Amino acid sequence: MGLVTGACFAEFGNNVTCVDKDEKKIGKLNEGHLPIYEPGLDSLVSKNVREGRLHFTTKLKEAVEKALVVFVAVGTPPSSDGSADLSQISQVAQEIAKAMNDYKVIVTKSTVPVGAAAFIKNIIEENKESSCNFSVAANPEFLREGAAISDFMRPDRVVIGCKDEESAAILKDLYRPLYLIETPFVITSPESAEMIKYASNAYLATKVSFINEIANLCDLLGADVHDVAKGMGMDERIGSKFLHPGPGFGGSCFPKDAKALVALGRSVGYEVKIVEAALDVNEMQKSSIIERVRMLLPSLAGKTIAILGLSFKPETDDMRESPAIAIIEQLKLNEVIIRAYDPVAMEVAKSLITDISYCEDEYEAARGSDALLIVTEWNQFRSLDLKRVKKEMRMANIVDLRNVYEPDAVKSYGFNYICIGRN
Ligand code: UDX
Repeated sequence: MGLVTGACFAEFGNNVTCVDKDEKKIGKLNEGHLPIYEPGLDSLVSKNVREGRLHFTTKLKEAVEKALVVFVAVGTPPSSDGSADLSQISQVAQEIAKAMNDYKVIVTKSTVPVGAAAFIKNIIEENKESSCNFSVAANPEFLREGAAISDFMRPDRVVIGCKDEESAAILKDLYRPLYLIETPFVITSPESAEMIKYASNAYLATKVSFINEIANLCDLLGADVHDVAKGMGMDERIGSKFLHPGPGFGGSCFPKDAKALVALGRSVGYEVKIVEAALDVNEMQKSSIIERVRMLLPSLAGKTIAILGLSFKPETDDMRESPAIAIIEQLKLNEVIIRAYDPVAMEVAKSLITDISYCEDEYEAARGSDALLIVTEWNQFRSLDLKRVKKEMRMANIVDLRNVYEPDAVKSYGFNYICIGRN
C-alpha cells in the first residue's frame, strides 16, 4: 500500500521518497526489483524513478525533513485480542517527531483505530524537538490488491479526515488530478475518516459472509445462488458487487479489520454482533470445504488432490489469511497428498505450506489426482482444457470453490462436480 501510494503520487507529478527500515527491501527497490507482485506497479515505479520523482531510502529523518506531507503506511497487525497493534505507528510517530523542522501534515494511510490521529498528535507533541506546527490527518485507502493502481487513480471516493483547513487544503491539492476527473471527496473529522475505513471493510466482509450463508442454504434447498445474487444485486439498494460466494474471505484487510472493529467496540463496552457473526461464518465456510470434498471422495486418506490457486485472490502473490492455507492444512490432517499450482504465489506459499508438491502448471497438478479443487479464480483456470484435465486425473472429480464453471458443462465431460450454492 505504501509503495502503490508513493508511486501514484509520484505519477501525479510530486516528489516522493518512500522510507522503510528494512534495508533489504530498500536495497532491492533501488536495484529496480519490487518486493511484491501487483499488476502495473513495476512499470509505474521504474518510470517515476527514471524521471527522478520517486526515491527509496532507509533514512527517515532526511526524507521527513524534505517533506511537507508525511504518509504513514506502517503495519497495524492484530494483537492477541484482535485489536490493532499500534506499536509501529507509535515508533514511526516518535521518529517523525524528532525529524520535525518545519510545518508538516502527518497523514495515516494505514488502517488505524478511531482515535489514532489524536494518539499520533500526542506522541509528536511530546517528542518533537523544535517548536514547529503540524497537523495530523487520516486519509484511509480503499485499494484492492491486484487492482491497486486503478483503484488509486480512479477511486469511488477520497476520504480526508482533518481538524484544520490548512491540512485539508494541502491534501485536496495533492489529490487535484482526481478532482479534475470529478472524484467525490468526503472531508470529515479524523475520527469519522478512521471509522469509514473500518465500517467499509467490515460491511464488505459481512456481505461476503452473507452470500456464503445464502449459498449454503441454496444447496440445502435446491436454489441456484448465482440467480439469487443476480436477482438481489439488481436492487440498487443492495448492489451486485461482493455477492460472489466462495471458500471465505481472506487477505490482509477483511479478517484483520473486522476483528479490530469488534475489539474497538469491546474497548468501549459495545458488542458489534453483526461483524462477529460475519467472522464466525467465515471460519465455518473455510472449515466446511472439506465436507464438500468428502461428497465426492468419502474416504480421504491416501488420496491425491490437486489445488489450483493459492493466493487469497487472483492477481496477487499475497497469501495472508488465504483460505487455501486452512483448506490444505485440513486435507493434510486427513492424510491427503497435495499437488498445488498457482501462477504467481508459489514462492511465497513455499515458506508457509510445506510437505506438498508444487507443480509447473495446472495440468501437472491434475496428474494422478483423485479430485481437483479450484481455490482461487485466476483467469487461466476459467478455460481449462477439461478433456486434458480428465485424462491427467486418476478420478474425474472437480470441486469448484469459486463457481467459475457451469455445472452442466463440466458434467458433460464426465466429471463429478461440486461448487458453492449451485448443487
Ligand atoms: C479489501 C477492500 O476491498 C479494499 O477496499 C481495502 O482497501 C483492502 O481490503 P482486498 O483485500 O485486496 O481489498 O480484496 P477484496 O477484493 O476486497 O477481496 C477480499 C476477500 O473477499 C478475498 O478473499 C475475496 O476472494 C473475497 N470475496 C470478495 C469473495 O469471496 N466474494 C466476493 O464477492 C468478493
